[in-house]
Amino acid sequence: MKNFMFDYKIISELEMMWGSSFYILNVNKLRENYKKIADAFNSRYENFIIGYSYKTNYLPYLCKELSKLGAYAEVVSRLEYDLAIKLGEDPKRIIFNGPLKSKDDINLALKNESIINIDSFYELEFVKEYALNNPNQQIKVGLRLNFDISHNGTSALQEGYEVSRFGICVENGNLQDALNKLAALENIQLAGLHGHFSTRNREVESYRRITQTLCDIAKENRLDNLDYIDIGGGIYGELPLSFQKSVPTFDDYAEVICQIMNHEFSNFEKKPTLIVEPGMAMVANTFIFIAKVIETKTIRNQTFVLVDGSVHNIKPTMHKHNLPMKIIRKSETAHAIQVFHIVGYTCMEKDYLAHEIQAELPQKNDYIIFENVGAYTIVFNPPFIKERPCIVAAEEGELFIVRKKESIEQFFDEKVYCF
Ligand SMILES: Cc1ncc(COP(=O)(O)O)c(C=O)c1O
Repeated sequence: MKNFMFDYKIISELEMMWGSSFYILNVNKLRENYKKIADAFNSRYENFIIGYSYKTNYLPYLCKELSKLGAYAEVVSRLEYDLAIKLGEDPKRIIFNGPLKSKDDINLALKNESIINIDSFYELEFVKEYALNNPNQQIKVGLRLNFDISHNGTSALQEGYEVSRFGICVENGNLQDALNKLAALENIQLAGLHGHFSTRNREVESYRRITQTLCDIAKENRLDNLDYIDIGGGIYGELPLSFQKSVPTFDDYAEVICQIMNHEFSNFEKKPTLIVEPGMAMVANTFIFIAKVIETKTIRNQTFVLVDGSVHNIKPTMHKHNLPMKIIRKSETAHAIQVFHIVGYTCMEKDYLAHEIQAELPQKNDYIIFENVGAYTIVFNPPFIKERPCIVAAEEGELFIVRKKESIEQFFDEKVYCF
């Protein structure tokens, strides 16, 4: 991190203020990520918007920072929508996605002229009702579409699902029905086509298919007046070198996507805006988690390093891959290299922050820094057994709190719990 070397002395000073485990947000890295994604697409296509996927990490400070940089807020619930408003976001710069929207949510989003992508038919009924009740308002909605993006007969979807459960199916005639429903009302305009797919390998080829299919659908249905084509999120960000995995760069994605957009809309008077909704790519490498070593013990033939942290803090999905990490040692004294597991404070057997690490055994009072923990961590990790740790932002040589450590009063909020 620019201007910060998290050595033993600094971390132990930080511990005195913030406790023996905490996150650090690298604000400069966040800005860098935004700029890299924006540059890759802006240099290849004339109208481009980043909609930051709030659910990936809705730390208010982080969302606000991205908004200042130019990102729209991509939200998938009323809670996230209201957060964006609370942060001062212009409602016209909110993209409201997600499978569950109440009538009230839709009324509000339409009244506020937010960008809204319809996921299912029940939402269309709410839109229709709103349109009939507000005949003088020109209403814009987008449709989230569902189509097959498998290649070579293999599913591209996460977990190997054959069929995605989201959006309106193109292949079975549902899209046509939805288009007819929208066309039946004069004051509704189909403003955009949306196609987010959570894929297993985040391959460029999936984005080729998504972009091409959305463009083909726009052309086949003579949707000459589209405001946007939204290809969703799911791209890879920059991985730490220690991951030792080669992944597509932002330029690789942008090259393929923008080439299709430029080609398909070359004759259009109005080229639709291209929207990308990165989550992981924007924030994963902006957070580290620091946890103190409390104890080291050997049970039969296995060695466990207990830290003041939990798998919930760094990978709530409990996947088995070890994250990149550093051991910050109190003493330079050399210890034998051995194999050990890093385990957490909960009472769950499976609370492993890392498996089978081969290194010099960490000692009591050392610290372990887990890297790349910015995506799908603080939004998932439940207040389970222990209060949530604080989050500190590092920016231009300064450290400041952006989420305080939870106290028992907040954990068991008396406005929520009845004692
Ligand atoms: C509609 C939508 N947009 C964007 C994203 C962000 O995906 P990622 O964090 O993989 O970039 C998701 C994640 O599931 C999503 O559902």
